[in-house]
Amino acid sequence: MKFVSGFIGYVRQALSKMSGINTAYPRMPRVVSSGDVLLDRRREWALASGQEGFHEAAAGIYEQILEQAPWWAVAWFELGRERERLGDVAGAISAYKSALERDPVGLLAADLKLAALGALPAPPAPPESYVTGLFDQYADSFDKHLVETLEYRGPVLLREALERGSARMARPFQFNAAYDLGCGTGLMGVEIRERCRAIDGVDLSPKMIEAAKATGAYRRLETGDIWRWLTASAAGVASLVVAADVFVYVGDLAPIFAESARVLEPGGLFSFSVQKGEGADFTVGEDMRYAHSADYLRELAGANGLETISLEEASTRRDRGEPVPGLVAVMAKT
Ligand SMILES: C[S@@+](CC[C@H](N)C(=O)[O-])C[C@H]1O[C@@H](n2cnc3c(N)ncnc32)[C@H](O)[C@@H]1O
Repeated sequence: MKFVSGFIGYVRQALSKMSGINTAYPRMPRVVSSGDVLLDRRREWALASGQEGFHEAAAGIYEQILEQAPWWAVAWFELGRERERLGDVAGAISAYKSALERDPVGLLAADLKLAALGALPAPPAPPESYVTGLFDQYADSFDKHLVETLEYRGPVLLREALERGSARMARPFQFNAAYDLGCGTGLMGVEIRERCRAIDGVDLSPKMIEAAKATGAYRRLETGDIWRWLTASAAGVASLVVAADVFVYVGDLAPIFAESARVLEPGGLFSFSVQKGEGADFTVGEDMRYAHSADYLRELAGANGLETISLEEASTRRDRGEPVPGLVAVMAKT
C-alpha cells in the first residue's frame, strides 16, 4: 500500500513545476514525494546537506530513509548522486541500479547515469517519460534560464551556419517547408521564420509545444517523438530540417538521419547541433546528455545520401559557467 501511494505521489509530483535559477542544466524531475510527510522532510534535509557540500551526511540520511522506504526510487537515485560526489563509484552504481529497478516508467533515467559510469552500454535513447517530465517542468522558465543563465545560442548558431552553407552552395537562404525537430518553446522557429514559407514543429513535451504555439512562428505543431512524426510525413516535401540542442537527448541517430533524408527534397538542408564526443559513436556524460563523434555524423550522412557542407566546432551553451564543446552541422540532400 505504501509502495502504491508513494509511487503515485512520485509520478504526480515528478510532473510538477521546476523553480529557481540554476547554472547547470536541469537533469532530473525535481520534486518527488514518498507520500509520507516525515520521509519527505528527511529527504529535504538530505538534499540541503548535499547542496551545502556535506555529502557524507547526506548519504547517511538517504541510507536511513531507505531502510524505511526501500521502494523509493528517487531516494536511491539521490543516494547514488551523493556517493558519486564522495568518489564511491561502486556504491553509486549499486544505488542507481536500485533506482532503475524501482522506476518502471523511467522518469529518473537512471540508465543514463549507469551508462555514464560505464556500468551499462549507452542506451539508444532515454525513456520518453524522462524527457517529457523534464521539459514539461522546465517549459515556463526555459527561455529565461537557457538564454540568460546558460547563454544558449543554438538557434543563432544554426541560422548563421545555414546562411554560410547556402552561400557556399550558391542557393538562396530561403526555404519552403521547414521541419523543426524538438522545437521546444519555439526559439528556433522565431530565429528562422523570416527565411521560411512555413515551419512545422514536433516535441515530446506538451508544455513546450504550448509555448511554441504562443510564438506564432509555426504552421503546425504536434506533441510526439521525432522519429515517429517524421515517418508520418511524405517523402521529399521539406526544404529544411533543423534540430537545435535536441540530439543531446537521442543517442542512436541512425533512424532520425534516415527519416530526415527521406523527407528532404533534393538540395534540401539538414542542420543540427550536438555535444561533441570522441571515440565511440555516442556516449552519455555525467550530465546525462549524449555526445556524438564527428566521424559518426559524417558516416551517417554518407549512408543516407547527405553531403556534409559544414561540421564546425561551436558551443551552444555553458554549463556551470564553462562553454560546452559542441558541433554544428549543415548537410545537404544530394
Ligand atoms: C534543449 S531543448 C531545445 C529546444 C529548441 N530546439 C531550442 O533550440 O530552443 C530540447 C527539446 O527536445 C525535445 N526532445 C528531446 N527528445 C525528443 C524526441 N525524441 N522527440 C521529440 N522531442 C524531443 C525536448 O522535449 C525539448 O523540448
